[in-house]
Amino acid sequence: MKRIAILVSGRGSNFEAIARNISAGRLDAEIACVLSNQPEAAALETANSLGLNAISLPSKGVDTDVYAEQVCAALAPLNVDLICLAGFMRRVGKPLLDQYAMRILNIHPSLLPSFPGLHVQLQALEYGVKFSGCTVHFVDSGLDTGPIVSQAAVPVLDTDDADTLAARILVEEHRIYSDAIALVLGGSFRIDGRRVVAAP
Ligand code: GAR
Repeated sequence: MKRIAILVSGRGSNFEAIARNISAGRLDAEIACVLSNQPEAAALETANSLGLNAISLPSKGVDTDVYAEQVCAALAPLNVDLICLAGFMRRVGKPLLDQYAMRILNIHPSLLPSFPGLHVQLQALEYGVKFSGCTVHFVDSGLDTGPIVSQAAVPVLDTDDADTLAARILVEEHRIYSDAIALVLGGSFRIDGRRVVAAP
């Protein structure tokens, strides 16, 4: 059974969706740990209540690469096949990128390459796009720049504010992240330039 580490910073609804899909037999994987850089993250309580290995590893005041080494050390005994960032709001340092090259996924609440970074639902509204959505991508050293595994589009309604748009995008996040994880864990894809192409 392939083992995933889920890295979080807050609420953890994407982590919960992954855990639900595993329990329901829709995703063939095992959660090796849920690691939060925020000790107060609600996701840690949820992980504990589900009997999962919940790790609090505070990142406040820690250099990005030093923190990445700490994460590597925490994950080392857990035999992790894939790291899934799920609302993890820190940059991933080089030691972690090197150790898990092309084995780190992130979910981002916009249609990349539009609106990388933070407060992206507000960015989308203010720009006036008629569609936004979410993206699952491999993590590289850039800001939300790695090869795209999966995307889903969501219409932006005239009545939307950042919260209603975020909520509608989140529904799609919960759907596509597990499918993308299954694809990557299954290994039936190749990377052609920037394109992640599913094997026939
Ligand atoms: C999600 O919308 C996720 O896409 C976003 O944070 C939210 C976390 O929600 N991630 C980023 O913006 C990463 N740059 P959750 O904690 O309920 O999964």
